[in-house]
Amino acid sequence: MFDSVIVPLDVSSYGEAIALVDRLPEVGFWKVGLELFVAAGPEILKYLKGKQKRIFLDLKFHDIPNTVAGACRSARDYEVDLLTMHAVAGSRAMSAAKEALGDSPTKLIAITVLTSLNSDDLANELKIPLDLAGFAQHMAGLTQASGLDGAVCSPHEVASLRQKCGQDFTLVCPGVRPTWSQAGDQQRVMTPAQAIAEGANYLVIGRPITQATDPVAAWQKIQTEIAAI
Ligand code: C5P
Repeated sequence: MFDSVIVPLDVSSYGEAIALVDRLPEVGFWKVGLELFVAAGPEILKYLKGKQKRIFLDLKFHDIPNTVAGACRSARDYEVDLLTMHAVAGSRAMSAAKEALGDSPTKLIAITVLTSLNSDDLANELKIPLDLAGFAQHMAGLTQASGLDGAVCSPHEVASLRQKCGQDFTLVCPGVRPTWSQAGDQQRVMTPAQAIAEGANYLVIGRPITQATDPVAAWQKIQTEIAAI
């Protein structure tokens, strides 16, 4: 089955990570982020590969072109499915990173704008003279022009980015919540079925699954909702 739901391993040790993977055997695509990678290193990637899982390595590289290219060359050996960097590193860094991945099957996708930033932060702290949606659109365009494979975006931006960047551009959305779950600290949420219908390729859904009383049942309920679109 095509895995459109990616579950984040938002834990801080190898032991907790493998316990979560074992608890949810049906999940085929896991996200490893900074917290777990800094704590557990590449061992967790080997473990996931050994279980034939797909991997989203969300390390959000942001540095000068030479350094992000080096990081991508090192990451190439892991043969992960998705790898992230920040679009605000600029087009030269993005092109260098993509070139460093060479003919690797790893898709390199960019964070357009962190969803923790609001319009006020953009205008007053970062002094960016565009509204959030306009800035996200601009950064997605720069990402695509730099040769990257896709972007991470809010489900509320998916429809416009899909239109702007076309069908071959991979769009990955966090900030997704089934109607029956708590929004938590996610502010602008959308249901899994809506986000897929708007044009997302992948959804990153964490707490509604991992913190559910019955994670397996929550996972299956989401799969059923998506299948019904
Ligand atoms: O538990 P929840 O579904 O909110 O988890 C979403 C995951 O996606 C977390 O790993 C979070 O760090 C990540 N994420 C996000 N918003 C972004 C980028 C990543 O929530 N803009």
